[in-house]
Amino acid sequence: MNPALSQFGTQMSQLTGVRAIMKDIIETLKNSAGKEFINLSAGNPVILPEVEQLWRDCTADLLASKEYGEVVCRYGSSQGYAPLIEAVVQDFNQRYGLSISGLGKAKALRDRNILITPGSQSLYFYGANAFGGYTTDGDLRQVVLPLSPDYTGYGGVSLTPEALIAYKPKLEINQKNHRFKYRPDFSQLEITEQTGCVIFSRPCNPTGNVLTDEEVSKIATLAKKQDVPVLIDSAYAPPFPALNFTEMNPQFGDNIIHCMSLSKAGLPGERIGIAIGDPNLIQILESFQTNAAIHSSRYGQAIASRAINSGRLAEISTEIIRPHYQHKLEVLAATLDKEMPNDLPWYLHQGEGAIFAWLWIKDLPISDWEFYQELKEVGVIAVPGSTFFPGLKGAWKHKQECLRISLTATESEIVTAMQKLAQVTKSVISKQPTLLQ
Ligand SMILES: Cc1ncc(COP(=O)(O)O)c(C=O)c1O
Repeated sequence: MNPALSQFGTQMSQLTGVRAIMKDIIETLKNSAGKEFINLSAGNPVILPEVEQLWRDCTADLLASKEYGEVVCRYGSSQGYAPLIEAVVQDFNQRYGLSISGLGKAKALRDRNILITPGSQSLYFYGANAFGGYTTDGDLRQVVLPLSPDYTGYGGVSLTPEALIAYKPKLEINQKNHRFKYRPDFSQLEITEQTGCVIFSRPCNPTGNVLTDEEVSKIATLAKKQDVPVLIDSAYAPPFPALNFTEMNPQFGDNIIHCMSLSKAGLPGERIGIAIGDPNLIQILESFQTNAAIHSSRYGQAIASRAINSGRLAEISTEIIRPHYQHKLEVLAATLDKEMPNDLPWYLHQGEGAIFAWLWIKDLPISDWEFYQELKEVGVIAVPGSTFFPGLKGAWKHKQECLRISLTATESEIVTAMQKLAQVTKSVISKQPTLLQ
């Protein structure tokens, strides 16, 4: 069958960003009979034994409890499973001195600050389409990404692709140390009456950047003036999975929707996203969810409530998950420092969090896609950077000069892959020697 598709059908039946590249990667791996690859493209977290044990223990506890039938044999509320909502409320009120409430006093909707979703990706879909897109008056409300590059998944969330608009960053470059950092360019960033919502990840996938508390509060203040919600994608933030390698404080506020995910805390298969925000905003997202999906898996929610209530999820996050990836990043950085030519303008983004490293080879004489193909030739797979600039209009050579490198491989794989990457870089540059500093 080949049915005619609606505008939304056409839009949503296409893969965007990194998911399009993944197809090429899967085919490469499948057709590579006998050839070994080091795959540094994965966003799938490593299965760490302590993390797996935590989820096993929570599952055993659920199976042994009277609650089991109620959890898996019944539908529940679209807002989420009550024990998980209460666990998040208690944890966040205590940890951050908030006074959020979960189920609402006397079931009043106006008191409900929490929504549980099937993964956090769905939250961005609800948010981008509830606050962005065409209004009933026909005006276009933009979905603003204030600091590009950012999460490739934002590229596919809006049913109105023209709504998505991203802003070029300012670059802070440390030439001597071969490091750099993106900063929001407040001289360019526009949050106006045409803005529907703002979204950014903190820590950032793909760059590992962490916007400072001040930068976040500046963006939130600009948005508040226009009554615009700000979705802060905290998929890598503390308290779980705590994949921040630098100090950061989650920010809350009237127009901030703090969006969390349990995927990088070992539960990607169970699809748990958590939104904390103003009850009016939460209610809009909840209705969207009722229409789209009814609710998230209650099994996942039940085991998550146990992991949070016991304190073990927060503990394992800081003691196991964070050090695992931070160490990988240190190995990667040290290997690049040793192997990459010092006289070449290559820069690694400051590794402040998440599970990726972001490499920029300034004035790379070939495109990032060609560089990706060259790397494949030597058995290394990483993701071309140009897929991480959703919504950024206009030519900018920098978009074709970067590479995302996953920290999910083993330490020795990372060392070998970075040695090979350095060789490929030298070989590409030797064909264009004027690049040397
Ligand atoms: C920054 C960021 N946001 C959101 C997601 C989606 O996560 P979830 O599994 O909660 O839908 C990811 C997944 O990799 C991510 O990296």
